[in-house]
Amino acid sequence: MIVKILENYMELSKIAASMVAGEIKRDDKLVLGLATGSTPEGMYAELIRKFKAGEVDFTDVTTFNLDEYASLAPDHPQSYHFFMNKHLFDHINIKPENINIPDGCSSDLDHECYEYDLRIEEAGGIGLQILGIGTNGHIGFNEPAEMLCVHTHLVDLSAETIKVNSRFFESFDQVPRKAVTMGMGTIMHAEKIVLLASGKSKAAAIRQTVSGGLTTAFPASLLQLHKNVTVLLDREAASLI
Ligand code: PGA
Repeated sequence: MIVKILENYMELSKIAASMVAGEIKRDDKLVLGLATGSTPEGMYAELIRKFKAGEVDFTDVTTFNLDEYASLAPDHPQSYHFFMNKHLFDHINIKPENINIPDGCSSDLDHECYEYDLRIEEAGGIGLQILGIGTNGHIGFNEPAEMLCVHTHLVDLSAETIKVNSRFFESFDQVPRKAVTMGMGTIMHAEKIVLLASGKSKAAAIRQTVSGGLTTAFPASLLQLHKNVTVLLDREAASLI
């Protein structure tokens, strides 16, 4: 693991965007794995700025998002479809047919999950995967558990995740209890991984990610087994390492 500690969230966002843009420059047909949540918002804003300045071109880029809430329609303001359109896709020149986000409303979610992994495989696998991290060590929505799933699957969200994510919903009851997420295998097969974490609330999770033992009770710890992971942190997220 390469760990880079940046001065603040803005620096972290700029470096993350430069890494994405650099990968696209190296391979204009990059298959890019994307994350939602508060953490990557700055990176997306910087990528939009770079696109408008002519510094990056998404014409041939294909994207796969990590996850989506089950039962939220794409036009629901808290769905990850909505998030991605608002924070990135509506502002760049990516082809709509190259955007992939799990369909949490599919009437056959098992088939949707199977198909999602197939589409990733057909695209040649993920070249660069962006990750955030939950305070409980989840990546995507792979929650701490005795066993972790390899492939894209339907998952019950943990009580901690429901609580943390309730800040985006009008009431606690509105937070979906299930989600579709790439599995640990899907994520670990990415050629390169960049994990972003910002703020004090992530400091303990980051310590466990970079130096804790491997355990399914803390899914991000398994990233220590991947051969090309860069962890980008601001000073607060790095404060316990
Ligand atoms: P956050 O979420 O970026 O909103 O902190 C990260 C995650 O839960 O994976």
